[in-house]
Amino acid sequence: MSGKKIRIGLAGFGVVGKQVWEQIQADHAGQYEIVSVAIKHPDRHTETNIPFTEKLFELAYDPSVQVVIEVIGGIQPAHDFIREALRQKKHVITANKFLIAYHGEELRALASENGVNLLYEASVGGSIPILSALNFNLRHHQIRQVTGIINGSTNYILTRLQQAGNSTVQTILEEARSLGFLEADPSYDLKGWDIQQKLAIIAWHAFGIPVLPAQIPAFSLMNLSDEDHFLTRYGRLKYLANLERTSAGLDAWILPELITGEHPFYDIRNEYNAIRLNTRYSGSQVLAGKGAGGNPTACSIVADLLSVNHHPPEIKKDTQLVVNHNRILDQVYLRAKKGQTKKLIQAVGTHGLISRLVGSNRIVLKTVPLGVLAELQTFADLAVSLPKSVFIEKIQPVPHSYPAVM
Ligand SMILES: NC(=O)c1ccc[n+]([C@@H]2O[C@H](COP(=O)([O-])OP(=O)(O)OC[C@H]3O[C@@H](n4cnc5c(N)ncnc54)[C@H](OP(=O)(O)O)[C@@H]3O)[C@@H](O)[C@H]2O)c1
Repeated sequence: MSGKKIRIGLAGFGVVGKQVWEQIQADHAGQYEIVSVAIKHPDRHTETNIPFTEKLFELAYDPSVQVVIEVIGGIQPAHDFIREALRQKKHVITANKFLIAYHGEELRALASENGVNLLYEASVGGSIPILSALNFNLRHHQIRQVTGIINGSTNYILTRLQQAGNSTVQTILEEARSLGFLEADPSYDLKGWDIQQKLAIIAWHAFGIPVLPAQIPAFSLMNLSDEDHFLTRYGRLKYLANLERTSAGLDAWILPELITGEHPFYDIRNEYNAIRLNTRYSGSQVLAGKGAGGNPTACSIVADLLSVNHHPPEIKKDTQLVVNHNRILDQVYLRAKKGQTKKLIQAVGTHGLISRLVGSNRIVLKTVPLGVLAELQTFADLAVSLPKSVFIEKIQPVPHSYPAVM
């Protein structure tokens, strides 16, 4: 690929695709040429200087194209398109976490069979170079534990909840939607599905363990309500993704957590993401940056492009370690679903857990195994992990208009 410009097929010209085009034109036009841009709705595009096509698969079959960038999203036709591009021996760069989380293994194998690269830095953490750090620089450090804020939408909502002492959760959600931080159906972000996909991708690169998103218990923020606002008096609420490699397997879970000033994520606000890696040889490392948006995400795509000929070292699959749900969590707050308090208390008793009733419909569990917490979720609207520094004896619910402590 030396001498002449590298020829690129760009699939998608939306929030991310447009910025990929702009960044390549502005900074790398001497080295790369985008020869074709696939879109779906030509009537939505008025630009006259862009080589648009509606024939997505033409990009995969064009013999002059060496690199395909896929930013259309979703499973189909992205899956078939990427497969075909790899079979045609094109390097593929994608931001598609959905596809990589579910079909990464198959697509990586296909890339390897065809002697090309499949790179997807933009699929996790927006602008944060987490996957290349795991592939190259941090490989030798031996990762033990990963903790992350890896969903910008929910971090934005929780930041606003913290700041807006008198705003209702409903108002904050509407504001997030109007700013483009939430889809019309917010489940993908608020139920932790987006985080499950990203965490499954991280698990592969950090530990070589194939994990499917659904194997990771995710405790939802969907029913966060004004009744939970009082928690912000004791710390800052964050929606944390967790992985820990133990001798028994891989612990993986997604849970809202209350963190206090000493936590490295205390000041990670709004749409920012952060990932902390605890390693055997170098202790703790934190990466933080914008986790979404056109330009930050396009940066990761262009970074992949600049290193497209650099084969990442092969990840050794760990067939011994599997995801387990035995981890014991300390101090977890649960708010019962309407009319389910009795059932929640009964279930807590059945499992022999030590708990304290807080107000009429909330419980704080002293400790709880992850698998049991997942069962208790049937009766609870919200589960939040509390820091040890917050003594459960002192927790008192107060009306949501109580001003938050920042
Ligand atoms: N937005 C972010 O902040 C962000 C962050 C990280 C990762 N990502 C990932 O990046 C990818 C793209 O996201 P986005 O926000 O840029 O999406 P988007 O704004 O909805 O853009 C999607 C683009 O793909 C085109 N497209 C859709 N189906 C197509 C088809 N069958 N053939 C040809 N073109 C097709 C659309 O064409 P039309 O314009 O003609 O409709 C549009 O230009 C997704 O995988 C997403 O998860 C996004």
